[in-house]
Amino acid sequence: MDKNYYINILQTRLHITRFSHSLAVMETAMKMGKRLNLNREKLWLASLLHDYAKNLPRQNLLALASENKLITCKAEEIQPDLLHGPVGAFLCRRDLQIEDSEVLQAIYYHTTGHEKMSLLDKVIFLADLVEPSRDDTGVDELRRICEDDLDKGLLFAFDRTLKYVIKRKLLIHPLTVQARNAHLLAMEGKEDK
Ligand SMILES: [Fe+2]
Ligand SMILES: [Fe+2]
Repeated sequence: MDKNYYINILQTRLHITRFSHSLAVMETAMKMGKRLNLNREKLWLASLLHDYAKNLPRQNLLALASENKLITCKAEEIQPDLLHGPVGAFLCRRDLQIEDSEVLQAIYYHTTGHEKMSLLDKVIFLADLVEPSRDDTGVDELRRICEDDLDKGLLFAFDRTLKYVIKRKLLIHPLTVQARNAHLLAMEGKEDK
């Protein structure tokens, strides 16, 4: 894999702060992945490219998503930023010829989560939220929990996102509710054993 090829393309597509964020997410994901049995190339690629579509204006996100049948709910129509994951995965496949379904899935769902998250999906989702430049409310607690247990971190992250969305009177993406419920049940199942 020619890493510089992807880094250079990303640099031309993203504003400098978003580009730095992408590099930080990649570094964070690679650190998190050290203890886990994950393919390092897939982890590198998905984390670096997760925000590939982040700098597209809302109209372009909506147009690309609608042309390619990527819109699944009202929340995405009204808050098109929710589409940067699905559109990013679509563009990585179309423009960068990335065919790996695990990498594309992690990019697709990195904002919302989904019911059957792979370990790769979880690490990308969390690395995006805890990379060092993040300073949102609760991020230090999330970092601490993630160091101890990624699954607990994921539940905390879903709950935090839902609280944030409710507080700001935004629409909740149904996938986040489904992801959170499925994850809670899976964790309870684990603890029961
Ligand atoms: Fe993102
Ligand atoms: Fe991101």
